[in-house]
Parts: sequence; structure tokens; C-alpha cells
Amino acid sequence: MRKPIGVIDSGVGGLTVVSEMIRQLPKEEIIYIGDTARCPYGPRSEEEVREFTWEMIHYLLSENIKLLVIGCNTATAVVLEEAKEKLSIPVIGVIHPGAIAALKTTNNKEVGVIGTEGTISSGAYYRELTTINDKVKVVSLACPTLVPLVESGEYEGVEAKSIIQEALSPILDYNIDSLILGCTHYPLIAPLIQEVAGSKVAVICSGDETAREVSTLLYYENLLYTGEKPPSHVFYTTGSKEMFTTVAENWLGRNDFTVRETDLKLSVALRKKI
Ligand code: DGL
Repeated sequence: MRKPIGVIDSGVGGLTVVSEMIRQLPKEEIIYIGDTARCPYGPRSEEEVREFTWEMIHYLLSENIKLLVIGCNTATAVVLEEAKEKLSIPVIGVIHPGAIAALKTTNNKEVGVIGTEGTISSGAYYRELTTINDKVKVVSLACPTLVPLVESGEYEGVEAKSIIQEALSPILDYNIDSLILGCTHYPLIAPLIQEVAGSKVAVICSGDETAREVSTLLYYENLLYTGEKPPSHVFYTTGSKEMFTTVAENWLGRNDFTVRETDLKLSVALRKKI
């Protein structure tokens, strides 16, 4: 039987993970929620991030997903461990895959991490990187202006580059050779981040490694879809359908998916009643 993989994010950022999942696992069906109306999660309290993230998880559980990807670093930092404990389906976050990708890339063992205030202050990347390799030096920086830049849809051009330049400048004084984009929104501006960081710094996105973990887990849990029916992906947004569709089409380079607006709170309440 066909069951979808659920992916959640505070907005359009998780699409950067979805694109890798579609590339590596073209037969799998994806159901996505971007909580665009309440984005950004980065400056919010842990309690709020936890509450909103669980709303998205409950929504997707009622869609009978077989695996959950928390495609948001901020939500991964707060909820991953408890979601793994409480849910009976496999759960994957994006921080471990991001750390693994950086450890594979770095030569000088000096790794930079940029992310939201929530992700950086949680210390989750530092813990993940140094637990695996305690010789790694980690330099972390919160970049609160970058998620609003991406969600505005105006993330190309001179103005965007100057916002990125200003946000990144404190980390560029360090001798890092790899820079983890510790927020799934950032790959959408990766070319500009690469320009600003310079050619000596490898820019690391977690999407590729996350999709690889999904693939491995589906295989080990015997959950891979082996039928012939093509997948029909559904993307929910709590914000504007038009904006979400534009970003999704641009980023994924396809339009064979359905975008629907949803009110998470209302839908969760209704679903609980049923
Ligand atoms: N994509 C989310 C992340 O990876 C963005 C966070 C936000 O909403 O501030 O952290």
C-alpha cells in the first residue's frame, strides 16, 4: 500500500529537502506542511516552536504518513528527540545530516554554522559535530534577517546580496573551510551565500544527506514503495497559496504537485473531534 512521507517546516525552507527527496526517491509520495503564516520560528520561544511543530505533526499523522522528516532546523532542535520517543513511525531531523555532510567535507576541521537564533542558541550543531569528532572547531552565527528575506520571495539581486553580506560578515573573519547552512531556507540563497563566503569555503546544505538518511531508513524498515503508480505530492501552506506555488515551482523545477491552503489550528481541532 502506498503511504506518503511527511515533511514539515515553518515555511518554504523544507522544499530544499523535498527537492533532494524527489531526486533520490522519485517513486515516493510526499505530503508537506509549511507553516508560512507563523514563519519565522527562529525568534520564537521553545514552547511556541514545540506547540506549532506538534500541530503540524498531528496534522500529518492523520494523513497516515509512514515516516516524518522535520525539515526545519529550529523545530529539529526542539522536538526531534521527543518526536522519536513518542511516535511509532521513524522520524528524521535535518541537524544530524547537516553535521555529517560538513564532517565529510572539511579538511582543516574548522566548521562554520549559520542558522536561526533558536537553532544557534540551542547548541545542537555544536553538540552533533563535536560528539562525532571532538577535534572539530565550530564557529556559530545566528542570521535572523535571512529567513524573512527568503520568505519575501525577493531573494535575488543586489539588495539581497547586501543583506547576506551584512549577516555573514562576523563569521568570515574565521578560518573556516566549510559553512553549514543550518536553516533549510538558506539553500534558496546558496549562490549568493557562496559569493559572499568566497571560493575557499564549501557551502553545505543538509538536503542531500537528509534524503540519503530517508532512503536508508525506508530500506531498513521495509517501507520503500515498490509499486508502479506515480506519486502525487501535496503541499499545504498556512499562508498564501500563490507565493508558495511560485517558490515551489521555481525551486523544484516542476509543477506536478498540488498546493493547498490550510488553517492548522482549525483542521487539527476538527480532526480531533472526528
Ligand atoms: N527552515 C527553518 C529552519 O531550518 C526556518 C526557521 C524559521 O522559521 O525561522 O530553521
